Amino acid sequence: MKLKKFVFLLSLAAISAQAEDIVISTDSNALVYNVADNGRVYQKYFGKKLANPADYAAIPNGPEIYITSGMEDYYEPALHIVHADGNPSTLLTYTGHKTSTLADGAKQTVISMTDKAYGDMVDVYFIAYPEHDIIKTYTTVTNGEKKPIELEKYASSMLHFDNGDYYLTQFNGDWASEANAKETKLEYGRKQLDTKLGARANMFCSPFFQLGIDSPAAENSGNLLVGTLGWTGNYRFTFEVDHKGELRVISGINPYASRRKLGKGETFTTPEFIFTLSDAGRGKASRNFHDWARDHQLYKGNDTRMTLLNNWEATYFDFDEDKLIKLIGEAKDLGVDMFLLDDGWFGNKYPRHSDTQGLGDWDETKNKLPNGIGALTAAAKKNGVKFGLWIEPEMVNPKSELYEQHKDWVITLPNRDEYYFRNQLVLDLSNPKVQDYVFGVVDGLMTKYPDIAFFKWDCNSPITNIYSNYEKMDQNHLYVDYVNGLYNVLERIQKKYPDLLMMMCSGGGGRSDYEGLKYFTEFWPSDNTDPIERLYIQWGFSQIFPAKTLCAHVTTWNRSTPVKFRTNVAMMGKLGFDLKLDDLTEEEADYCRRAIKNYNALKPVILEGDQYRLVSPYEGEHAATMYVGKKDGDAVLFTFDIYPRYRQTISKAESNVKLNGLVPSARYAVTEIDRADGNDSKVGEYSGEYLMTVGLPLFTLNKLNSRVFSIKKM
Ligand code: GLA
Repeated sequence: MKLKKFVFLLSLAAISAQAEDIVISTDSNALVYNVADNGRVYQKYFGKKLANPADYAAIPNGPEIYITSGMEDYYEPALHIVHADGNPSTLLTYTGHKTSTLADGAKQTVISMTDKAYGDMVDVYFIAYPEHDIIKTYTTVTNGEKKPIELEKYASSMLHFDNGDYYLTQFNGDWASEANAKETKLEYGRKQLDTKLGARANMFCSPFFQLGIDSPAAENSGNLLVGTLGWTGNYRFTFEVDHKGELRVISGINPYASRRKLGKGETFTTPEFIFTLSDAGRGKASRNFHDWARDHQLYKGNDTRMTLLNNWEATYFDFDEDKLIKLIGEAKDLGVDMFLLDDGWFGNKYPRHSDTQGLGDWDETKNKLPNGIGALTAAAKKNGVKFGLWIEPEMVNPKSELYEQHKDWVITLPNRDEYYFRNQLVLDLSNPKVQDYVFGVVDGLMTKYPDIAFFKWDCNSPITNIYSNYEKMDQNHLYVDYVNGLYNVLERIQKKYPDLLMMMCSGGGGRSDYEGLKYFTEFWPSDNTDPIERLYIQWGFSQIFPAKTLCAHVTTWNRSTPVKFRTNVAMMGKLGFDLKLDDLTEEEADYCRRAIKNYNALKPVILEGDQYRLVSPYEGEHAATMYVGKKDGDAVLFTFDIYPRYRQTISKAESNVKLNGLVPSARYAVTEIDRADGNDSKVGEYSGEYLMTVGLPLFTLNKLNSRVFSIKKM
């Protein structure tokens, strides 16, 4: 659990114990609670911040802040405690609240409540980032009884709406088809988005949602709640509309198979639910998240990111030292910052020549790499590129020395045949010895090869065969303690190697959450690198993640798309290449070298600027996204023409792209850059108002056509 999180309180305001409104606000929004005469705490308002806080007094109270089981509410509770005497009910009354400013400037409010009949305590934390309009919230539950209690349900957050019409957008799919946006209207009853996969938790459903309030979500208009859970494991979002048309949104760890025992005096801390309320649609909500993440959550959020050449699709498992040294030379030739060696470099008794064996045995395969990783880091150094390495340290193949020696470290049922997902099993990170081992994988490699600059940390299996062989384990705690064990390892790595950069990967986008991104600088959204598919996948993830977190590689998937098209799609995220120069013609390789230079020049705008999604690929044959730099207001625009139908025509309106995020009164020089022929082409000079109101006819009927425009403030 995240106990050490906010230890640096700068100022503690007086603890207040009288009934009053408790206002949690950002620059634009307010979430207001009230302590009623009966001592219970109610949500009375969640919406646009009112200029005069005294006005909140006139608003009647709504439902309780954190509804408990067994009392007068008939719908899904946030908290369900089974007390030491077996009583399943809880009634929380206010004991006080505290406000303080945290070290990073965030405003924290803690509302404390207790169940007087039992002495159990509940604190609901709100951490507001005023300028980003983001609020994080989580809850602690402390056992104040003499004997252990059990938590059946223990949500991070409960929010209430009484607007009548609600439209939920979820982001789900499967391997190689992640984060597809689908919107449905919520009606009476309960809709849940959840995962029970344990590890690789987000394989089927990404841990975030958008909720259109009153109307369906639009890109630039309408009221929208966007929320996500910072938890690299099983989560659950519950949306329940009651008979009065009121909606509750309950977010937290999925309590499935995770009943939590709390000893006397023990506290359980839930993960953070992070949310924003936008009055200008999805675009604004995304920019709130992007800015907040760079400033407050993402590891090295305000640092730039490295371009790279990865060997996975170039070689798969079929490589040796010579081939890799050739690729390291190609990394230099292309002009990328790093070479990343993927899966297949380890195992001797069971060499990792395929995904069937070797996982867990982290020694270089002698006949592939006779001179070890050291020869490769030396070659990288010689070529002036950094070196990165793939690992999957939470997992094991049954065909491995690790499995033979430490079966007790494996999550597996003692009395049943094992079944495998990708021929592997998950190590039991709830066991401190296994945590030491996993930390040791990284620590050992870093000690031996201090020139490793980067790890791609993979996680290709869900937790299967669910049983912990750790003698101290309560089996109901496995899913939760696994994740906390993982955080413990990541915390130790970050502390010891603060300069080490890491990519979070999980068979593609099976891990994509903001608690993970406190330790990782980026994530791999999908194994699918077909650029057409990527337009959708990156569109989905961009809803809450900034471009610098989205690893996007140019590969040989969908060879019918020009290399320029593939590269331009990847340039909208963290650009990398996963091919060999032999896969390219000389002309294409030249284009890639130029594109990398262009990307390096555009990086501050793409990675740190404001993103505006202009035309959605979900709407038809075209897509466009732009980024506006925060420093000088220069922008870059990407347009894509996908696949016109036979004899399709394009009207003036259809070809038009209206820009966004510019200064209306400023003048901009628009130039098409990154062209296949290497020559920039001037489009014209326009006011910001013209570009945003009239727009430019930039879409074409050319098949699989992509264009990049520089928009320079004059
Ligand atoms: C996963 C990753 C891929 C690659 C392979 C290696 O599928 O998503 O990028 O690293 O593992 O086995």
